[in-house]
Amino acid sequence: MFPYPSRLSQPVVIPHGKIRATLQNVATFRQSEQPRHHGHIHPHGHATARLSRSFAATLSRDEAVRGGKLDEIELGAHLHDIGKYLIPESILLKPGPLTAAERATVAFHPAFGAYILSGLPGVTETVYRIVLCHHERWDGGGYPEGLSGSRIPFAARLVAVCDVYTSLRARRTYKHSLSRREAVAAMEEMAGRELDPDMVQDFFRYIQPGQRRHRGNDRGDAGLRSI
Ligand SMILES: [Fe+2]
Ligand SMILES: [Fe+2]
Repeated sequence: MFPYPSRLSQPVVIPHGKIRATLQNVATFRQSEQPRHHGHIHPHGHATARLSRSFAATLSRDEAVRGGKLDEIELGAHLHDIGKYLIPESILLKPGPLTAAERATVAFHPAFGAYILSGLPGVTETVYRIVLCHHERWDGGGYPEGLSGSRIPFAARLVAVCDVYTSLRARRTYKHSLSRREAVAAMEEMAGRELDPDMVQDFFRYIQPGQRRHRGNDRGDAGLRSI
């Protein structure tokens, strides 16, 4: 198992701008080695962050949202795939299907992301858990910890729904973009297995025409592999 702390010991809140600037340095450093990464990871993170924040603002049943943690949800969503900077471009942008070994490599990215964040001062527990747990599954079949149901942090379940939606709506090197109706149908299949079924229903209500406050392109990227 890749070494990352399961929880942050003493998070200290510092301005998100400083965290973003530090992570931008990480991205820039990696960009010199893998120049195509940033053009995919950043737009996907941005789209997922905007969607997650505006969706979260419509929910009031959780303490994390009532407590005014929208900023943390937005930041965690923005950074959720930061660990992919450590995955080779040849795998992430591969046009065809991945081998079992390549899939296993991609599956390290939440742990890689947690490892990156654990070295930064000012990353809160909510931000950290979003990055670490966004590929946990409702049925317990996800990674890296195999959490299930409500043991998966609420904010991570919320961002997972938005991550899946933006990924389905995106055009990728290995697939075309889905229409909104096609994406909803795919997510109905995932509800109760990969995704929190109540969260999915809330999300469907949120994206109904006339209900949705999120504006602009919800596709987010053009080539980043999701897994
Ligand atoms: Fe991811
Ligand atoms: Fe993602």
